[in-house]
Amino acid sequence: MSSKMRAILVKDGKGPIENLFIGEAERPSPGPGMVLVKVKAFGLNGMDLLQREGRYPMPPSSPTIMGVEFSGTVVQPRASRGAYGEYVEVRHRNLIRKPAHLSWVDAAGIMENYITAFQGLVFLTGIKAGDDVLIHAGASGVGVAAIQLARFYGANTVIATASSKEKLDMLLAMPNGATHAVNYRTQDFAEEVKTITSGKGVDIVIDMVGQSHWQKNIASLAFDGQMALLAFLSGSVVKEVDLAPVIFKRLRIQGSTLRARSADYHAELIGRFKAEAFDSITGSSGDGRIRTYIHKVYPWTQIQEAHREMEASKNSGKIVLEFD
Ligand SMILES: NC(=O)c1ccc[n+]([C@@H]2O[C@H](COP(=O)([O-])OP(=O)(O)OC[C@H]3O[C@@H](n4cnc5c(N)ncnc54)[C@H](OP(=O)(O)O)[C@@H]3O)[C@@H](O)[C@H]2O)c1
Repeated sequence: MSSKMRAILVKDGKGPIENLFIGEAERPSPGPGMVLVKVKAFGLNGMDLLQREGRYPMPPSSPTIMGVEFSGTVVQPRASRGAYGEYVEVRHRNLIRKPAHLSWVDAAGIMENYITAFQGLVFLTGIKAGDDVLIHAGASGVGVAAIQLARFYGANTVIATASSKEKLDMLLAMPNGATHAVNYRTQDFAEEVKTITSGKGVDIVIDMVGQSHWQKNIASLAFDGQMALLAFLSGSVVKEVDLAPVIFKRLRIQGSTLRARSADYHAELIGRFKAEAFDSITGSSGDGRIRTYIHKVYPWTQIQEAHREMEASKNSGKIVLEFD
């Protein structure tokens, strides 16, 4: 096997979409506890756009090749990041065997979004049957995963927000999709939450939007409510925060990323996700309680088009790229 491989790289290390190009890189050589995987397909994530622009650090293990989720075949046992290349080095214990009912494309788009949603709902907020849940960026990869997982864990209502009727219709049409959908641009989601929950508010908010949603998120939370804060797409600075509802409603707000967690935490998260939820995932035409929703599949050489589609917020569900 050659020591080189083809990979998607970023000219000058960071920059606009036009800086993405197909180049050549060293093929990873797996160290202890790692395996080498030949990538069949990889999922695109919001984080990739930030990394391309140099606004989110690349991991030391893969300083030049982006990409955090993939499907593929193990070609060299013992080989965690860099799914934008033909080969990726990954911790053995972070792999899940692909079941036959999932295609390579379906499988490529599961890990980052579902593990993020699972962390938010199960590890951070401890969802319980009967909870009322509010999920922002509902049509994002993470949102689609979180909506279905909330239903899977027995949520009473799952209220999702998104920016267009097309996205909201899709979220309501999913078999285990949103029970209610709100257009955050044209409606006041805190008022909608109040009406839907008969004044009680939601027990859990999963938020990736941050600044623009903060006040309404606090207003939407019920007594003892919890918010998992996973990103700040609209900005990270909130002016004039009123602490009173945090205290009087006994709110708990916890932020988290996946990246900065330890290898043991990752293994525990993935192990529990596999044991509790993964086997219930089927492709979008399957009959699983949780399904993959693939917005579009591109050949990997069309990485610029794929980034453009996501940057314009056009996707409902996952964008996946396939290797030839
Ligand atoms: N903390 C973690 O561990 C972790 C892990 C993975 C991902 N994330 C974060 O989760 C978010 C979703 O990731 P993804 O890959 O699923 O993204 P995605 O599929 O690209 O979806 C992002 C969606 O967010 C909505 N959005 C963007 N800017 C917005 C704004 N200013 N206000 C309201 N909505 C906005 C858009 O939908 P609309 O058309 O509905 O506005 C957009 O389509 C990203 O911010 C990512 O960084 C966090």
